[in-house]
Amino acid sequence: MPSATLPTSPLFTIQSLSPELRKETLIGAEVLLNTSNGPIDPSSFKPEDISVLRQALYDNSVLVFRKQQGIDPLALEKLASIWDPDMINVHSAGKDQVRDPRSILSRNNGARLPVAPNVQVIGNGEFRDYDGIEYMNLRHVDSAEFHAQPLTGEELAEGQTRFYRWHQDAPLYENLPGKVTLIHAVVVPKLPDQKIKFQDGKEMNLQAGSTAFISGAKAFQLLTPEEQEFALNTTVQYAPRAYEWIRNAKATSDGLGIAKVGEEAREEDLPAWSWDKVQAFPMAWHNPGRPQQPHLQILGCCVHSLRTTDPKTGEVTVIDDLAETRRICYEMQRKVVKPEHVYAHHWEEGDLVIFHNYGVWHSITGQLGSTQRLMWQVTMRSGKEPEAARPVPVKVQ
Ligand SMILES: [Fe+2]
Repeated sequence: MPSATLPTSPLFTIQSLSPELRKETLIGAEVLLNTSNGPIDPSSFKPEDISVLRQALYDNSVLVFRKQQGIDPLALEKLASIWDPDMINVHSAGKDQVRDPRSILSRNNGARLPVAPNVQVIGNGEFRDYDGIEYMNLRHVDSAEFHAQPLTGEELAEGQTRFYRWHQDAPLYENLPGKVTLIHAVVVPKLPDQKIKFQDGKEMNLQAGSTAFISGAKAFQLLTPEEQEFALNTTVQYAPRAYEWIRNAKATSDGLGIAKVGEEAREEDLPAWSWDKVQAFPMAWHNPGRPQQPHLQILGCCVHSLRTTDPKTGEVTVIDDLAETRRICYEMQRKVVKPEHVYAHHWEEGDLVIFHNYGVWHSITGQLGSTQRLMWQVTMRSGKEPEAARPVPVKVQ
């Protein structure tokens, strides 16, 4: 079945991914270049090009540009600004690669490109003399260290992998998340396809190291009317220094949350923090290009408590029991985790993928051993918090 061709501009034609790839995900369009085949240069975009790209991302959540080998690394942050007039010119994870051993974000041994410090290099395997970086030993996550019940030897032998952590790219402390994330594939592992088994027994084949996406809009649609109302009225409070807090906590097998309470770091072992820098976000996020379409956006591993406001009276109810908070979030999120709702991007070298970080969840996958993988990742700090799909009412006095 041919894929639908969507709006065009002088530079771009937006083409929906094929129905076989899109399934029921609501995700995915390819951006075809009308005039050239080389890497894109945002400084040449006309206002019509920008508005077509902007809306295409709000409509499709993930945009794919093929054959972008040689793209200027500085072009990635310029592209990010298309979706964020309040963008601050710093990677949302900070000016430098996170090196604090207390943070799980330091475990992948990533680096920043010397010529473009907002480009984070992530992946797997050893690299020498890469773009001015003398040596990198990049680490992809492995089920053995990540899941409470890791893949067994038998499951690994039959090519199974898992979702690791469904998340948005969000520091959850001090720095606001980027509206979009961009990933450029430089080196893609050449391994046989792997597969993920879902809780209902269904299986999904995917490329080793594929990045998986779920639409927060689809997740919201699958909630009951009562759950939708709850999501629209609730704010999710994240834990102080959430990534340091869960650094020794193991994930559920589906990557949605933390398997049990009690493995969190003690407060005194966290880096210094104060509540005014700890972030809380709406449970249902506003999509500026589709204002009627709420997106359920929860970082299940990092939740701390929930605050629900009655829209009629403004009365606030707080749930601060950690097990109950996690259970509620998990029940709301798990419905969507089915093969028909997951878009797994099959990376080709040269791909540039831009995703709506305020509209989708993503997870890495793959058992890569020592096989090389190298990606550039950019997600720029925003100056503005995620907006609620429904503004929180003010208490009636
Ligand atoms: Fe991520």
